[in-house]
Amino acid sequence: MSSSSPDERSLVLIKPDAVRRGIVGEIISRFERKGLRIDAMVSRTMDAALADEHYAEHVDKPFYPPLKAFMTGGPLVALVLSGDQVIEVVRGLIGATDGRRAAAGTIRGDLSLSNRENLVHASDSADSAKRELALWFPELG
Ligand code: PPS
Repeated sequence: MSSSSPDERSLVLIKPDAVRRGIVGEIISRFERKGLRIDAMVSRTMDAALADEHYAEHVDKPFYPPLKAFMTGGPLVALVLSGDQVIEVVRGLIGATDGRRAAAGTIRGDLSLSNRENLVHASDSADSAKRELALWFPELG
């Protein structure tokens, strides 16, 4: 008997450092090779209001001002990925927050040396995915 559950969706941001470094294709390729689907994709520069909404749980933290400056400082690529347990699968593919400590084989572990310029954001739960997808891709309903 199959134990598969309906596919879910995750909001992924390929951050401005990845765009600047020209490794967007490499990052997307890792998601595609895993078997995840791209349901929507757009290049966009985050403005201050969207940053404050997207990072609502972090706005009072000391690291937020530099995080906001970084995330609004250039274009990023926003993606909607779907697949079986995509939220957990993508978090595994990107690795721990701090690229210096992320495991080799993960995107951050292989390609980042920073906890700010760490290349990718991905929804960390079903609730955050729902909230973030509504913020970035309201047209998907
Ligand atoms: S927390 O407090 O544990 O929930 O934070 P964490 O999940 O580790 O990180 C949340 C996002 O903040 C970014 N971050 C930072 N940015 C700038 N400077 C510092 N020191 C810093 N520490 C964490 C981190 O990259 C996370 O970004 P997202 O976009 O959510 O991946």
